[in-house]
Amino acid sequence: MYNSKITGLGFYVPEQVVTNEDLSKKMDTSDAWIRERTGIESRRHVVPGEDTTTSMGVKAARIAIERAGIDKDEIDFIVFATLSPDYYFPGPGVLVQRDLGLRTVGALDVRNQCSGFVYAVSVADQYIKSGMYRNVLVIGSELHSKGLDMTTRGRGVSVIFGDGAGAAILSRETDPKKGILSTHLHSEGQHAEELAVTAPGMGKRWVTDILADADPEDTSFYPYMNGQFVFKNAVVRFSEVIREGLAANGLETADIDMLIPHQANLRISQFIQQKFGLSDEQVYNNIMRYGNTTAASIPIALTEAWEAGRIREGDLVVLAAFGSGFTWGSAIIRW
Ligand code: ACO
Repeated sequence: MYNSKITGLGFYVPEQVVTNEDLSKKMDTSDAWIRERTGIESRRHVVPGEDTTTSMGVKAARIAIERAGIDKDEIDFIVFATLSPDYYFPGPGVLVQRDLGLRTVGALDVRNQCSGFVYAVSVADQYIKSGMYRNVLVIGSELHSKGLDMTTRGRGVSVIFGDGAGAAILSRETDPKKGILSTHLHSEGQHAEELAVTAPGMGKRWVTDILADADPEDTSFYPYMNGQFVFKNAVVRFSEVIREGLAANGLETADIDMLIPHQANLRISQFIQQKFGLSDEQVYNNIMRYGNTTAASIPIALTEAWEAGRIREGDLVVLAAFGSGFTWGSAIIRW
């Protein structure tokens, strides 16, 4: 049995910076409200027609592949996590296979929203652990801006989310003490509709229903979020799943060198940091600049932390996420 380790990281965000001030020109909101509640100062939005979820993922992947020092033909499998795919089907995994010109390797799409990257890493890790694959390309990418209600009606959700992509190469590691030590995944579907886009879908409303109703008040195809309920669950589940991962490896919170929490809301990250007694050096946040990029948030933050020299060989790195589903998870990594 092998371990897998992250050998290459990359990220891409669109150039267009959208400040809280910019949003306040479109809806009744303010820089003060957004900063105080979420910590967000700006986010990136694609210029329509210039980027898609797949193209951003491909740009991040090219950087990760180069940094891993492998040829693209050495990639054995693709795992793509997103809630904002280019098409209803097929998923973006196959588009990456095409656009990067990879061999006809398998491509799997992961639908776990904010926990998508942790789930994707877990899947890739199992393939490498079993010996089936040597190098797996894992991507988290989101294009939120096209799907948000940018009027006052949607302000409780639309100010939070941003666009971007991150990617990692997971490769075979023979030292059992190095790389991804364990991953821990959970779900609680009882709360599926507390943070969801329920249409179009075969369950409630399909495209033809939306068109037939032509109701200007229809918000079923916009994200709905019960913000306070999500917040309360997030802080509990983040804590639980970090503790679960540490305990499984005989580790304690003091052993954490770098915690990369999913960038849901700066207040959630700060709550966790305080609860675990971690210093600013032990936690990486960038939601201030990018907003919540869902499946992309962890790989973007991980890449930035690594680029800044804040993750060094031998460090204990913890990834943790919570989001729609509800789903949550953690990954415990010895770098
Ligand atoms: N600007 C100004 N006012 C606003 C805005 C806005 N953007 N959004 C909502 N308001 C108003 C509301 O209308 C409400 O007004 P009212 O009191 O007159 O009715 C008031 O502000 C308070 O609204 P709440 O929704 O109760 O505000 P809350 O303090 O809960 O903050 C927030 C909302 C920021 C969404 C918070 O609940 C939160 O962060 N929840 C966690 C959500 C989260 O982290 N989601 C991401 C994780 S999951 C994932 O990543 C997919």
